[in-house]
Amino acid sequence: MSDITSEPVLEGAVLRSAPHLLDAMARRRSVPAAALAAPAPSDEQLRQILTLAVRVPDHGLREPWRFVVIAGEARAELGRGLAPLYRAANPQMDAPKREKFAGIMERLFLSAPMAVVVISRPDRACAIPLFEQELSAGAVCMNLLHAAQASGFGAMWVTGWAATNPDAAALIGAGEGERIAGILHVGTAASMPPERSRPDVEALTSFWAPPAA
Ligand SMILES: Cc1cc2nc3c(=O)[nH]c(=O)nc-3n(C[C@H](O)[C@H](O)[C@H](O)COP(=O)(O)O)c2cc1C
Repeated sequence: MSDITSEPVLEGAVLRSAPHLLDAMARRRSVPAAALAAPAPSDEQLRQILTLAVRVPDHGLREPWRFVVIAGEARAELGRGLAPLYRAANPQMDAPKREKFAGIMERLFLSAPMAVVVISRPDRACAIPLFEQELSAGAVCMNLLHAAQASGFGAMWVTGWAATNPDAAALIGAGEGERIAGILHVGTAASMPPERSRPDVEALTSFWAPPAA
């Protein structure tokens, strides 16, 4: 990656256009963890992906997010910790069903070679609304998906029980007052999912007009 921050961003009074970026955005789609294989991003590629991921709007510059990377042996070790937490959290569940989902938790990080957990860590004492700080964490997740794909990797943003159960989230690394904004599986796409239907932007868009008198 060139030193993007030192490059001029203006040509005359017009921001330089980036057709490659538009193309990449138009092509982005999630690749499920089951379709993500080794290799994971190298240390240098990961550093670059995360550097781009944090280039997000951040009202008040609170940096209300951080990362936990799960790779290598840690993937299995974390899964071995999640499974008993799932069992303990679901004592009333039908035993075969509980074992099935505990097994899914045990294998959660084994398919993809890497997961980057985006932790939302809003500063509740500052004047910036909590919602805005959490939106910024979502923007980090989205940027990370784009940066991963533009670096040649597949990725998918998930949450689920491991992200939302307090004990599981704590084991993954969320501290007091923090939440998991996303678990982003990252790896080399062994296959691509078919394109899904995309929202009808026209149906979702209106142009403001003054209320009828
Ligand atoms: C906050 C958040 C959590 C998500 N959690 C899950 C999840 O747990 N499991 C899942 O299959 N998809 C989840 N998704 C949806 C996928 O990330 C993805 O958007 C979806 O598969 C559509 O694919 P696309 O990214 O190609 O549009 C989540 C999306 C968001 C924004």
